[in-house]
Parts: sequence; structure tokens; C-alpha cells
Amino acid sequence: SKGAYEFYMLKEIDEQPGVMRHMSQNYLDDNGEPKVDQDILDAISKADRLYIFAAGTSYHAGLVGKTIFEHYTGIPTEVGLASEAGYHFPMMSKHPFFIFLTQSGETADSRVVLKEVNKRSIPSLTMTNVEGSTLSREATYTMLLGAGPEIAVASTKAYTAQIALQAVLAKALGEKLGKQEAKDWNLRQDLAMAAEGIQQIVDGKEKLKKLADDYLIKSRNAFYIGRGIDYAVALEAALKLKEVSYIQTEGFAAAELKHGTISLIEKGTPVVALINDPVTADLTRGNSQEVVSRGASVITIVGKDFAREGDDIVLPEINYYMSALLTVVPAQLLAYYASKDKGLDVDKPRNLAKSVTVE
Ligand code: F6R
Repeated sequence: SKGAYEFYMLKEIDEQPGVMRHMSQNYLDDNGEPKVDQDILDAISKADRLYIFAAGTSYHAGLVGKTIFEHYTGIPTEVGLASEAGYHFPMMSKHPFFIFLTQSGETADSRVVLKEVNKRSIPSLTMTNVEGSTLSREATYTMLLGAGPEIAVASTKAYTAQIALQAVLAKALGEKLGKQEAKDWNLRQDLAMAAEGIQQIVDGKEKLKKLADDYLIKSRNAFYIGRGIDYAVALEAALKLKEVSYIQTEGFAAAELKHGTISLIEKGTPVVALINDPVTADLTRGNSQEVVSRGASVITIVGKDFAREGDDIVLPEINYYMSALLTVVPAQLLAYYASKDKGLDVDKPRNLAKSVTVE
């Protein structure tokens, strides 16, 4: 039940620290070593390439997963939209392994791809929140997210759970393949820092309500910009804001704006800059200044190490590869308040259903 909450979306945002702790308890042993079925590891460690397929928010979690898998396992990883792959199956490497990310386990677009995968006898894994769901029954293997039921149509805790679970698998796989980055990785600590960091962000939610009220709710459009993992989060942040608030929002690779889209920036256009990538932090900062000088109202969401005076939201410290777990949370809250303060039904945006069982 919603308990004291007006909407499930906020309840589910608030549950994310618990989801991170649960992930650690379920999937890491007392020494912080990942507990992943040996069968899964045997199958996936034979792969020369990983193919992640999903839709919507789960696709965005896959984009973050790609960076994590490539860094910690060294296996090239491709991410695709299930709806685009079902009828135009991708060119494959010699030994592919498919990963399906699906909160509900029922998404028809993803299921079409899995059917093609099964026809070709390719091994597959479904990461899902729903035990016994269709995609979990039809894939070779399943790993459960354990995020607890997600009721709000807009996905929040399933996204962070999908990222954390991909991290668990990446660590197990990387260790099995002898990757030093995986052996040295203190994932237990990272998940604990994610839990604490998310808690700090949700404790400061009033600030996000104010930002949403001051900059977003009167606007017809908005942008999120970022590079690296921040770009992947920008796509998810934009989807979240547009789907619940009906403010047309685009997630953009920060440097791409100047290749065309910057012409949309006017006085007062909200642009949320995500700055956590150590390699490109200064460049993204530059891109955000470019839009400020064209009149944009910029909101900055910045990792502690890159923060400057005047930044709006400063995120607690975390490993860059896990930074999406924190960066997305202020964006979820901005979306929530923009929707609520416009008087909309946050949990049930128009035209949408929780699980999409049609193609
Ligand atoms: C957006 C959202 C959707 C789902 C998508 C896939 O907030 O919830 O974009 O992520 O429909 O659903 P699952 O993960 O159930 O396959």
C-alpha cells in the first residue's frame, strides 16, 4: 500500500536505498564476493560479445550496463532497442550471449527478440523483477531484481536495481575472466555508498521540489545534457520528466547540442546539466555555460569532486561506474514534483500502461 504517500512514485523513489542494501544482501557473500549461478557464469564467460536488449527505462539501464560490463569484464557489449531488433536482427559475433532487461518480464517487444534468440539456440539471461514472468520462463537463465513490486507506471527503483544487478554480474564475470579491475572492485562498498548517497538525496527532496516549481512546471520543454554515463542518465531523466509531467524533454549528449539543437534554446529554457564523468566534467561544464549565455535556465547536478560554487545539487561521492545510481535520483524527484505540482496523476500518466504487452 501507499501508506502515508500520496503517490507510489515517491514511495518507490524513497525505497531505493533499501533496494541497494537488499541487492548486497542477496547477491554478495560475507566477503563481498558475488553470488551468481555457476551455470550462468559458465555460459556467459564463453561469450565474445554481450547483447543487451530492452525497452524504455530498461533500455536506458542497459546503456549504463554496457559501460560497466566493458570496463569490468573486457567483453564488448552492445545495447539495442528490442522493438528495433525483433524484425531486423543484429549482425552477431561468433559467440553471442543475450541479456534481457525487463522489470515486468512481459514486454512484447523484448519477447520478439528472445524468440529469435531461441530459434538460433543462443544462450540468454533475463533480469526481471517478476518471478515466473514470460521472459524469465523463455530465457535460458533468470536473475531476479528483488526490488519489490513497482506500481507507479514510471519506473524508478527497477532502473537502479537493474544497474546494480548488472554490476553484480559484471564483477562475477570479470573475476572469472581474471580481469584485475573486477578483482580490485569493492562492489559491496559501492552499493553501501549508493544506499547512503540515495538516502541523502531523498532527504533533501524539498530542494528538488523548489527547482521543479521554479524552472520546470511553467515550461513547455526542457533538456538534460551529459557525457559518458551522464549521457545515458540524461536519456532516462528526460524520459522520466516527459512521461509524468508532459513537458517535452530531450536527453542529449552535451556536445551535440551545438550541432543543431542549441537553436531551440531561448530565454528561460530549462537545461539540466549532469556532471559526474571525471574525464569530461570540464567540457560538459563548458557546454552548460554555452547554453547559459543563450539565456537557458541551467540546473546543475554535479558529483562532489567536480562541484563549484552555485551548483544546485551536489551528489555524494561514488565510483564513476556506479554514478548513475545517484545521478538519476534527483532527476526522478524533479519529474515527480513537476508532475504533482502541475496537478497531474503522477502514477498513471495518460496513454500509458505499466506493462506493454503489445508490439
Ligand atoms: C518508463 C517505463 C517504461 C518501461 C518499458 C519496459 O518509466 O517504465 O519505459 O521501462 O515499458 O518495461 P519492462 O522493463 O517491464 O520491460
